[in-house]
Amino acid sequence: MRVSEAFRAAFGSQPHTIWHAPGRVNLIGEHTDYNDGFVLPFAVPWGVTAAVSPRRDATIRLLSLQAPGEPLTITSYEQAKGWARYVVGVPATLEGALGADIAIDGDVPQGAGLSSSAALEVAVASAFNELYGLGLSPLEIALLGQRAENDFVGMPCGIMDQAASALSQEGRALFLDCRSLGYRTIPLDLAGHGLRIVIIDTRVHHELADGQYAKRRADCESAARKLGVAALRDVTDLAGALARLQGDERKRVQHVVTENHRVEALVGLLRAGAITEIGALLNASHLSLRDEYEVSCPELDVAVEAAIRGGARGARMTGGGFGGSAIALVAEDRVASVEAAVRAAYAERGWKEPRFLTATPAQGARKLA
Ligand code: GLA
Repeated sequence: MRVSEAFRAAFGSQPHTIWHAPGRVNLIGEHTDYNDGFVLPFAVPWGVTAAVSPRRDATIRLLSLQAPGEPLTITSYEQAKGWARYVVGVPATLEGALGADIAIDGDVPQGAGLSSSAALEVAVASAFNELYGLGLSPLEIALLGQRAENDFVGMPCGIMDQAASALSQEGRALFLDCRSLGYRTIPLDLAGHGLRIVIIDTRVHHELADGQYAKRRADCESAARKLGVAALRDVTDLAGALARLQGDERKRVQHVVTENHRVEALVGLLRAGAITEIGALLNASHLSLRDEYEVSCPELDVAVEAAIRGGARGARMTGGGFGGSAIALVAEDRVASVEAAVRAAYAERGWKEPRFLTATPAQGARKLA
């Protein structure tokens, strides 16, 4: 394996363990995780591989095949910059100053909103869990990754991305209750129904993304306080709640409450073997994210509209928004026409050509060696 060769070349010995953790797409349940709601992501076939050995001291030596150069030697966690922060966030979050030699290799398309950062956290956390006998379950590994991102990296994300990376199973979607953290996987037999989920990577990432994410969370928390509930998950009378709110908070609540219902409805359809019927829910989710939650952008909207015009059964933005990727549910024989429609719509506007990928539900974190 390329990553163990790089490890040996840099550190002069074999890695003690090698873990792989995938990125994700979210089928439905957007901006619901930090509202104690429901999500339905699945792991993608691209991820991060971490080759790791423990050390006797607290130093982290770190190299990435995607960042050529000498390995970084990190003796104080705060020294770490950029991508290295997602790695170092793991030991920084654990007790006891645990050092390690780490080599990273990754193939998650960068900037596509497919959670390469969660993959990095979960791969590294899985390796530390094994090497230092931490006894963490896959769910606890996801929580450790989230804590590293919240407390060390400073991004107030929910649990969805790390959970998808740690818990997904091949051929299935992950239905997670973000309050109880109860989860189950549900078969997502795309090929058996002649379907494909096409990822449309807009190849844009608008800079406002991080600030707006924190702002949406704050809107939700303040609306929940006004409504006297612990989280928006608890709103049972939507009309009554909307009557008590105004402006942005009203719109955010409208999205979160209806999005949770859409997740449950979609799960119901999958259980009933009616995967071909889920398109309308995907479309409704997109409109709600665009108009009520206001986290879409022209590139995502055009991708979704063109995909539907080109014959997709449904489409929506996926992930945090403001760029990144959309997903489209497409019959096999329509894939070419959907891609052509999106490509043409982008070309017409003089935008950079989008990238198309096929999302096959993949296995969550696993030990490779
Ligand atoms: C990002 C966050 C997730 C989730 C999504 C929106 O991917 O990391 O926790 O909130 O946005 O659904």
